[in-house]
Amino acid sequence: MKKAVWAALFAVLAFTGVARADTFPSRPITIIVPFSAGGPSDAMARILAERMKVTLGQAVLVENVTGAGGSIGVGRAVQSPPDGYTISFGHLGTHVANGAVYKLSYDLVADLMPVVLLPSNPMIVVSKNAVPAKSLTELIAWLKARPAPATAGTAGAGSGSHIAGVYFESATGIKLQYVPYRGTGPALNDLIAGQIDVIVDQTSNSINQVRAGTIRAYAISDDKRLASAPDIPTAQEAGLKGFTMTLWSGMWVPKGTPKDIVTKLNAAAVDALNDPGVKKQMENLGLEMPPPDQLTPEALGAKQKAEIAKWWPIIKAADIKVD
Ligand code: MLT
Repeated sequence: MKKAVWAALFAVLAFTGVARADTFPSRPITIIVPFSAGGPSDAMARILAERMKVTLGQAVLVENVTGAGGSIGVGRAVQSPPDGYTISFGHLGTHVANGAVYKLSYDLVADLMPVVLLPSNPMIVVSKNAVPAKSLTELIAWLKARPAPATAGTAGAGSGSHIAGVYFESATGIKLQYVPYRGTGPALNDLIAGQIDVIVDQTSNSINQVRAGTIRAYAISDDKRLASAPDIPTAQEAGLKGFTMTLWSGMWVPKGTPKDIVTKLNAAAVDALNDPGVKKQMENLGLEMPPPDQLTPEALGAKQKAEIAKWWPIIKAADIKVD
């Protein structure tokens, strides 16, 4: 008797699981962006959401849940029901570095399921226009000559811009005074206003302000120039060896989300990435599309694990203190 009951229960669960995927989504989906509006994560999420809602046939909303280098927003997503209606947007900082900087209340790998790898970009070294440097060499000399460390905007300890700043310090031997914001959108506003000196920013965030001449760019952390910004040298060309870093983004859902629903979300995201309008917007921001063979959930999972293995020893050796 007991076996029959279990079999019936299993059948019902399996059926509702399939049924759930068949009717998914039946209401709006929320992408939690763990940084403030107007920054690079927010911008990418909104571009994708615009297209995903067409494929999914439901509104795809972006909710900014900020703080603690992005770990507050990721924690909110981890705690949400595993039903596919809450997506965790993040990147190298939030879904790798945070785990080496904070005692997180969740496990970045065990408590999340990968959905899809998203576009990536190099970091760009930018300063306020008042800095009297016209090259990376002159900027580094100016930074070294400061009586007190120059101020560098970040999106908080463990964010991408913070990790990039620490990496820049170790590559140049300079010291920076970090000024944390809830995202690099507001940090950039203060850089334009001259309130802070530099940001080691995602290229996608700063590139339009560089083009407008409201801030100055010195180099990107890549081994080749960006097609969309050919006049910005690589760090190597600008005289700084060993400063290469790619910040990649991705989307995850809470563990326990039905596989069929993950597959549906992945398909909608891949459709968005293949949309010509989306590709044009991303590439104009200096973002590189992920290779086609890297678009499965498994590929994001493997990348995240590899990046944890690479970056955690570096970050822990830097002994980053969370204020
Ligand atoms: C970061 O520095 O981690 C991100 O660029 C912040 C953001 O997307 O606002």
